[in-house]
Amino acid sequence: MASRSPARPVGAVTRGTTNPNRLRRMDRWIAAVHGPALRRSPHPPVAVDLGYGAAPWTAVELLERLRGECAGTLVVGVEIAPERVAAAKPYERDGLAFVRGGFEVPLPGDRRPVLIRAANVLRQYDEDEVPPVWERLRERLAPDGLLVEGTCDEIGRRHVWVTLGPEGPRTVTFATRLGSLDMPSDLAERLPKALIHRNVPGEPVHAFLRDFDRAWSAAAPYASLGARQRWMRTVRALSADWPVTDGPRRWRQGELTVRWEALAPR
Ligand SMILES: C[S@@+](CC[C@H](N)C(=O)[O-])C[C@H]1O[C@@H](n2cnc3c(N)ncnc32)[C@H](O)[C@@H]1O
Repeated sequence: MASRSPARPVGAVTRGTTNPNRLRRMDRWIAAVHGPALRRSPHPPVAVDLGYGAAPWTAVELLERLRGECAGTLVVGVEIAPERVAAAKPYERDGLAFVRGGFEVPLPGDRRPVLIRAANVLRQYDEDEVPPVWERLRERLAPDGLLVEGTCDEIGRRHVWVTLGPEGPRTVTFATRLGSLDMPSDLAERLPKALIHRNVPGEPVHAFLRDFDRAWSAAAPYASLGARQRWMRTVRALSADWPVTDGPRRWRQGELTVRWEALAPR
């Protein structure tokens, strides 16, 4: 697939660590909340897996999961390291392409993506680089596009991501394998770059994680019914004081989404 390639992609090559199925929780959430926008797209929707890493697994899986929602979806894996693009090329197929690029997000025909997903990419940049990168990526989006930027552990049991629209940040989602959770604040080590250095007293994200732990402790009696029941109880309790979104269908998956304004750094 031909693409608009600037002389120098914007950004820096970083560690390429990835794993099969690592981003399944993020993929499932994107498919659930963004499926309608994919289907509304007047052209076959283009989704970008930005910084897919040393192997193309996450892009291949994103294609499969988004095609479950919208059969015509196209996925373009964009990676700044040329040898990682060369390694991915043999996996190209109908609807899946790999191109070299950076935060400028070069796409064939200069198409605007309905989704840009950047997982475990910005954590390796400095905190003050995040706002301009977010802005640059948001400017590339289609009018009802989403930017999903976040972090997870090596095997995808714990995730935290920020979701942005063309206008700016909207929500923060915490997602976990419930059986693996001791305390919700275990997720703190997976906060995206914009929040991880703000998990200190006086900052909203710190207060939120404190309340999350308290609600989880108060819901301990529900543990006998299973971690899912305890989580549901915890999320309902947190909703009294924090602007929690989505709803029980998503919460049951071990997710909690809260509006960005409530956690935004001071
Ligand atoms: C840790 S890997 C993440 C792989 C995959 N997204 C995952 O979560 O499993 C980060 C990748 O992002 C790439 N990367 C870093 N900055 C980038 C940029 N500006 N544009 C495109 N790729 C970038 C790095 O080269 C690296 O391969």
